[in-house]
Amino acid sequence: MTQGIKVVEVGPRDGFQAEPVVIPTAIKVEIVDALFDAGIRRMEVTSFVSPRAVPQLADAAEVLAGIRRGPDRVATALVPNMRGAERAAAAGVDAMVLVVSSTESHNQANVNRSIDQSLDGFREVAAFAAERGIPIHCGMAVVFGCPFEGDTPPENLRKIAGALAGLGLRAVSLGDTTGMATPPIVRRTLEVLREAAPEVDFALHLHNTRGLGLVNVVAGLEEGVTTFESAVGGLGGCPFAPGATGNISTEDLVYLLEELGLPTGIDLDRLTRVAQVAERAVGHPAPGQVMHAGPRLRLHDLAAAKHAVG
Ligand code: COA
Ligand code: ZN
Repeated sequence: MTQGIKVVEVGPRDGFQAEPVVIPTAIKVEIVDALFDAGIRRMEVTSFVSPRAVPQLADAAEVLAGIRRGPDRVATALVPNMRGAERAAAAGVDAMVLVVSSTESHNQANVNRSIDQSLDGFREVAAFAAERGIPIHCGMAVVFGCPFEGDTPPENLRKIAGALAGLGLRAVSLGDTTGMATPPIVRRTLEVLREAAPEVDFALHLHNTRGLGLVNVVAGLEEGVTTFESAVGGLGGCPFAPGATGNISTEDLVYLLEELGLPTGIDLDRLTRVAQVAERAVGHPAPGQVMHAGPRLRLHDLAAAKHAVG
């Protein structure tokens, strides 16, 4: 297993975009700051997409202006096109995350264009970002299965990975948008992608839709993956993918990694308190488990427990 694991928080983007309520900007800012305070070092804090497509994140620039910044608080944002890149640069993002889906159907549903049109657009965004010294990463969606097409065609994965590597991208996260990954699919997919783009460092962005999120993390660790994306409280989901539910929860991920002897630098107690704030903000029980059960050695008072007598 690998040392030096990185946990990237995506809750303020993937989580809040999926909620029917719009979280007030001040509460978003409070949650982002508290997540960084808990030891998160890199976070997707919002996205610069069309406010008509995702009204929940229409306050992207205000969130960036409101949060505390610093070298250990890398604030990134998702960017779907040039307009998004311009807004993100003006708002002062530390890095942009370009987004492309691995099937034509989901790319149409998500950004209203073909995969080739997305990849063409990335060229312009990459040049724009390079001029300003803003690093770019990519998030590939529906990598392990698509709610419209089923198994993701490996030739799409090869084409996209090759194109991203050609643009100079070295960090690409593999999104399991509707939780269709299983350990054998994770292994197979990493093999295909690493062969197509050996210079790229592939991260895993897993959703727990079918309960295999952390199992897939272990499969990824065994394959040498060192970066995992997760959302506070296990919030999350893509509005443009039917059946999408929460990301793996950051607390559950940190708990697992620490129990495996892989230090994360994240304080689980503080993180749990932020998850509770996020749960109150969304107004329904969050799917995270460790935030409710506590770590395994959180003991209970025997005298206060119910006893089965007689
Ligand atoms: N930020 C703000 N506004 C934007 C924008 C951006 N990044 N991109 C486009 N717009 C605006 C345009 O200015 C235009 O506005 P107008 O009608 O008032 O002139 C309108 O949106 C339509 O622009 P167009 O380029 O035709 O976009 P589209 O309708 O084809 O939509 C996207 C394309 C990418 C903007 C839209 O599908 C989107 O935002 N998708 C994001 C999906 C997402 O966040 N998914 C979840 C995360 S993976
Ligand atoms: Zn996601």
